[in-house]
Amino acid sequence: MPAATDPIDLIAFGAEPDAAWRRAALDAGFAWHSAADIAALHAALQRNGNGVCGVLLDLRDVDDAGALQALAGELAAPRLRSLSVQRSDMATSGALFELALRYCVDSLVEPVSTTVLKLALDSLHRRLRLLGEARQRSAPAGALGAAGGFGGLLGQSRPMLRLFSELEKVAAADVPVFIAGETGVGKELAARAIHELSPRRGQPFVAINCGSIQPHLLQSELFGYEKGAFTGASQRRIGRIEAAAGGTLLLDEIGDLPADAQAGLLRFLQEGRIDRLGGTTSIAVDVRVLSATHVDLEQAQRSGQFRTDLYHRLCVVEIDVPPLRARGDDIVLLADTVLLRHGGAPPRRIVGFTDAALHALRAHDWPGNVRELINRVRRAIVMCEGTRIDAADLGLNAPADGEVAATSLEQVRDQAIGRAINLALERNQHMVVRAADELGVSRATLYRLMERHGIPPESRHRA
Ligand SMILES: Nc1ncnc2c1ncn2[C@@H]1O[C@H](COP(=O)(O)OP(=O)(O)OP(=O)(O)O)[C@@H](O)[C@H]1O
Ligand SMILES: [Mg+2]
Repeated sequence: MPAATDPIDLIAFGAEPDAAWRRAALDAGFAWHSAADIAALHAALQRNGNGVCGVLLDLRDVDDAGALQALAGELAAPRLRSLSVQRSDMATSGALFELALRYCVDSLVEPVSTTVLKLALDSLHRRLRLLGEARQRSAPAGALGAAGGFGGLLGQSRPMLRLFSELEKVAAADVPVFIAGETGVGKELAARAIHELSPRRGQPFVAINCGSIQPHLLQSELFGYEKGAFTGASQRRIGRIEAAAGGTLLLDEIGDLPADAQAGLLRFLQEGRIDRLGGTTSIAVDVRVLSATHVDLEQAQRSGQFRTDLYHRLCVVEIDVPPLRARGDDIVLLADTVLLRHGGAPPRRIVGFTDAALHALRAHDWPGNVRELINRVRRAIVMCEGTRIDAADLGLNAPADGEVAATSLEQVRDQAIGRAINLALERNQHMVVRAADELGVSRATLYRLMERHGIPPESRHRA
């Protein structure tokens, strides 16, 4: 892993950009390499090893579908960040455009001014440096090294790579971020990753679970109190917001915040100041606010349970953490990781999963997401009598072909469709056009089905 001052490799793929590009890249702190075709790109990436690496992608030279697929395969590596360049008169095909959208952090159209070029290269360099630091911090020990964690979040599937890129983007901007996702998907880990990647790392990260604190204690927990503010307040106590000063505050389960606490929080978000209970002066506090909940806040607003003005303050940017069932082979990666961490101790050494168990892991719907998976594998480690964990040890029935735990044929059909869509998207790098082709439906139909099954289209940007 390079030190902060080591140059980061930048591979220019395709036609060699003019000398000004190379000079600007060197100035930004990159070491310049070029690769005329996919084979050369592959070789350059091999030489780069396992460190972070930038790719400057000239879209002119990718014309056939095979090359496109090979390129997408290379660019998907979590250690890469790419920048694309195209000429303004170039007719970009839909697939090329989608590739640039999916894998490039920025897309420049020539002619590019020196200022824009410098900004883009500086920004790419900064992202790669942060990524290198995050990888270094989260590098799991020993056999898990290949798993490639991102701030503690493991995953290599498209939806997770997309998430990592979004986390990286929002970390750099000091705006409130709302993290949505089903229970147990890793919302708190995502919040910690934002803090660790942001300029506020090294300062406090304070998480408060708004749902688990008694409503009448919430105000004093959040804002603190002065001595004598109420019976029993024998000395001053600072609240969680003040405790996070300079750093990041995660308001977890924000959907459970009672109405009066919502009003107090809104005042703090608008003014950046808090009043300790019983205090006479307000105090300025600089904290970045992240929030998370598995409650549907839009619905909560409609039913009057959540203030719309507070929602808009908290939700400048929304990040959706994908459900586990949409993460393809990450399910097995996570299960293996839990097993390696908890299950390898002799004398009852467990070496892996039976085929039926792997089948069951992939077929299960995971309503409790990663938390459920961790619990099931840990339970299986205790229950397993052989050297391989079986479906029954996981408390999952190995599904016979087509057998799914559901109560009506309609549900069986629905679950099978949802699963087929997730798998097709995963196989096709989340390119909806291709997945639709494979499934034999139109793109519009696939979008409709995805919406019905709660599968987020990957190219959706809310930031
Ligand atoms: N991608 C991941 N890689 C490794 N561990 C993960 C991942 N996602 C979640 N976990 C683990 O799963 C558990 C649940 O994660 P977390 O508490 O962040 O979820 P959450 O979305 O905040 O859940 P809840 O809605 O219940 O608050 C934690 O033990 C966390 O470490
Ligand atoms: Mg949580």
